[in-house]
Amino acid sequence: MRMRMRIWVAALGIVALAGTALAQGDVIAQRREGLKRMGGHMDAMKGLVASRGDTRPAAARVDDMIAWYRGFPALFPAGSDRGDTKALPAVWTDRAGFETANANLLRQLDVLKSAAASGDQAAFAAAYQATGPQFCGGCHRPFRAR
Ligand code: HEC
Repeated sequence: MRMRMRIWVAALGIVALAGTALAQGDVIAQRREGLKRMGGHMDAMKGLVASRGDTRPAAARVDDMIAWYRGFPALFPAGSDRGDTKALPAVWTDRAGFETANANLLRQLDVLKSAAASGDQAAFAAAYQATGPQFCGGCHRPFRAR
């Protein structure tokens, strides 16, 4: 009886561990999937800048980006540094820096959205061209492995 109890407790422990690993795998997959979508928005806007198309429809893309990055830091819970991820340990050891980089991008996305909505191609191109290197890169350099 006691033996059976022990096996039962051990089995529960394994299930709990597997559950944690799975949950963290999920959050890593979720953030990577969303980031690919963000990359897609940036690529589409690059095309728009190059073709000098109507910038106004791009405002909806920027809205999707704003909504995503508002929830972005929450997708890096403790423990999600392990697994199929390129997030550097600094995400957790310098959380304030990580959140500042995210807030900086969010401010820039407001600028980009206004430029898109205005239909002013030059303003849109300038805002777009600053976004990738300064604000995406501003977080990738310290917080993402190459
Ligand atoms: C606050 C920090 C931060 C900001 C801002 C940020 N990123 Fe990232 N990005 C990361 C981290 C961390 C990873 C690695 C995620 C992982 O592997 O778990 C990453 C990974 C990525 C990836 C790779 C996804 C994959 O796994 O295939 C893409 C694409 C990406 N980012 C696009 C962007 C774009 C575009 C912007 C700007 C609009 C941006 N990111 C802004 C932190 C950031």
